[in-house]
Amino acid sequence: MNMETLLEARNLWIEVSVNGSWLPAVQDLNFTVYAGEILGIVGESGCGKSLTALSLPGLLPGGTRRRDGSVYFEGRDLTGLCEKELRPVRGRDIAMVFQEPLPSLNPLMSAGRQIAETLELHGQKDRDLNRKKVLELMGQLELPVPEKLINAYPHQLSGGMCQRVMLALALIGRPKLLIADEPTTALDQNTGSQILSLISNSNRERGTSVLFISHDLSAIQKICSRVLVMYSGSIVEEGPVEAVFSRPAHEYTRLLLGAIPDRKRKGRPLANIPGRVPSLEERPGGCPFSGRCPSVQERCLSAFPEERLIAAVDAGTAGRKHSSRCVLYPEGQN
Ligand SMILES: Nc1ncnc2c1ncn2[C@@H]1O[C@H](COP(=O)(O)OP(=O)(O)OP(=O)(O)O)[C@@H](O)[C@H]1O
Ligand SMILES: [Mg+2]
Repeated sequence: MNMETLLEARNLWIEVSVNGSWLPAVQDLNFTVYAGEILGIVGESGCGKSLTALSLPGLLPGGTRRRDGSVYFEGRDLTGLCEKELRPVRGRDIAMVFQEPLPSLNPLMSAGRQIAETLELHGQKDRDLNRKKVLELMGQLELPVPEKLINAYPHQLSGGMCQRVMLALALIGRPKLLIADEPTTALDQNTGSQILSLISNSNRERGTSVLFISHDLSAIQKICSRVLVMYSGSIVEEGPVEAVFSRPAHEYTRLLLGAIPDRKRKGRPLANIPGRVPSLEERPGGCPFSGRCPSVQERCLSAFPEERLIAAVDAGTAGRKHSSRCVLYPEGQN
């Protein structure tokens, strides 16, 4: 596997404003997206997945800020760029799709027209050719009867159809990185699987790298090569999907997976762990999962263990490491 680094987040801290004070929502995050891979992020609601995703192309919403850290894209620190310099990066290098496609589409313009305009923006000026390309792209995304869709407005389309149009818009500029934040969560299982296939086709056929955020472990298992497990603003475990799923090395991951790895789990969302993710004000010191962990020890309350290497899955390729921050799983155990 090609292990060239595409994006690297280093020491990323994101804060949100709560009752007039800034509280850390994402803490000291370090991860790499390698060229050509699909990297998953999984974790319960409120763990900081979306803030992490939005911060990469500099799209953090109001009431949130990056306090510290860098985001290197092909070696260039995006956090040092101004809005004007970031715009072409967003259009051309990094594209995003979200859980709710409808608000991202223009309600007053037909789906086909929006695709055509985006093609034009990316330098495709010839109208006839443009129309042909729209139909071709819609065909690739398995949007049925493209001629009809050219005249359909977003509110006339189903959720799955809107998500395909969003994907089409995102992929037109042939981005190097597609960030997909829960793209299938709002869809029924069948439509969701189709969107997953389209994302993995784009990865396979065009080499698009993907950062894929999901609650759905089976979706992660289906299309990702590596996964980051996030809890309460931190990465608690990271590794190749097959290693993390078969030999979880953090109590949080183990519970998410439902204790015993099981083929019947397929299609089920995250297992229900008693308790809930603490609010930003309630976050404990030490391991962020200590308050819900059935195996908690005294030392977990005072310090959050540093990342330890559980296994270097392919010797010599640091990117294939399996690592975790849990006292129960000692270094090099797998
Ligand atoms: N604009 C905002 N203003 C204030 N707090 C925010 C804002 N956006 C997110 N937060 C808070 O930051 C934390 C992380 O939120 P984030 O949306 O990144 O979580 P998530 O993992 O994407 O959750 P979900 O799975 O529900 O999408 C949460 O506690 C959330 O309430
Ligand atoms: Mg989210």
